[in-house]
Amino acid sequence: MVITDTHPDPAAEVPSLALRDAAQRLLPAQRGRACLRGGDAAELALEPGGLTARGGLIAALEADREAEIVVDARGCTLIPGLVDCHTHLPFAGWRAGEYERKIRGDAYEAIAREGGGIAASARALRESSDAAVLAQSAAIASEMLAAGTTAFECKSGYGLAREAELRALRLAGELDDVVAQRTTSTALLAHAIPPGHTADSWLAEVEAMVPEVIATGAVSALDIFVESIAFGTEHLERMGALAAAAGVDLRAHVEQLSTMRSVTVALRAGARSVDHLSQIHPDDIAPLAAAPCAAVLLPGAEFMNAERCAPARALLDAGAIVVLATDANPGTSPVLSLPLIVGLAVRRYGMSTREALAAVTLNAAWTLRLEREIGSLEVGKRADLVLLDCPAEHIAYRFGRNPVAATFVGGRPAWVRPDQAWRVRTR
Ligand code: NIG
Ligand code: FE
Repeated sequence: MVITDTHPDPAAEVPSLALRDAAQRLLPAQRGRACLRGGDAAELALEPGGLTARGGLIAALEADREAEIVVDARGCTLIPGLVDCHTHLPFAGWRAGEYERKIRGDAYEAIAREGGGIAASARALRESSDAAVLAQSAAIASEMLAAGTTAFECKSGYGLAREAELRALRLAGELDDVVAQRTTSTALLAHAIPPGHTADSWLAEVEAMVPEVIATGAVSALDIFVESIAFGTEHLERMGALAAAAGVDLRAHVEQLSTMRSVTVALRAGARSVDHLSQIHPDDIAPLAAAPCAAVLLPGAEFMNAERCAPARALLDAGAIVVLATDANPGTSPVLSLPLIVGLAVRRYGMSTREALAAVTLNAAWTLRLEREIGSLEVGKRADLVLLDCPAEHIAYRFGRNPVAATFVGGRPAWVRPDQAWRVRTR
């Protein structure tokens, strides 16, 4: 059994599921925590035991031996399904040629100014059929499932024109219908300045199109790329006002390539998250850490794009809600695996395994406002689960290896690694 029930009949009853005798289960110290700030992740326990799911929800933190599907979890670690709260799916094609240029020393900004970068992916999207975009994006989602991702965020942003942005958001909704995971959609309406526009004139277009975008009912956040080659802090303020008026979250790509002092602007605008932060000003760490705003760190983009490392340790020590994500996109981070991101974060940021796991589970769910439903092993939450074939610490230690033995979505086995199929027994 490799892929089982990726698209189960929603009307069909979910069989009961029990995982028996895991060597470790990642368990919260208290029920109902919305997120874990700073050192709170140290409270997470890694304890042996089992789990039972009924009707797609976690029903008990012990195994019911009479369940319809029983999983032998001996020697394994059971963790909540991983949540990737920052990806740029759906997109078309890749940009491997740009990566080779960057390796030879060309800067991302220079490539972008020559019409590469985001503009190149916008051209690829325009030239691809809906079916081709969906096929590539669904294949990526399958790879993510095999690496333990049970929920992820989609962004538009490769449209760079009104109709094309609406198309990208429609395709994100269609992707949700064909993948095993739960997805959310963010409208990244200010990603690059479209040809023929200034940042100001494009923001005026964005203002005009937001009502239509919101009317689709599918978008939970607006996003903007604040950078020397993109939009300024005044545009961030305007996007914040648009998000507030529309009743959706503001998220922002900030302080990735240069220090714009955009973090405090985002906080004043009520941002749910600020993402990247490689170049955050030291004075902005304390206000961010005190705010109800996630610090979403993207070590895959930092590594692949030779960026500075975000000050993760300082953010954690100041009490921030630290989150890790892939930033999966064809330019800065063609990385799909959250276990790989955990490995990078442990080595390069000095995060503990527990801190890194909190950052890709509960804190990532909080960023997407899904923390009541997913993100931790608690009775009543959705049975989105990942079974690792090793101790939790091996995720980072055996860097680059996929430790996922099986992924469960809503209580159903959604992916089982072929050599681990013997563990899953259906009555
Ligand atoms: O998060 N920084 C802006 N957006 C993406 C990169 C998109 C691209 O290069 O295609 C990011 O890194
Ligand atoms: Fe991004």
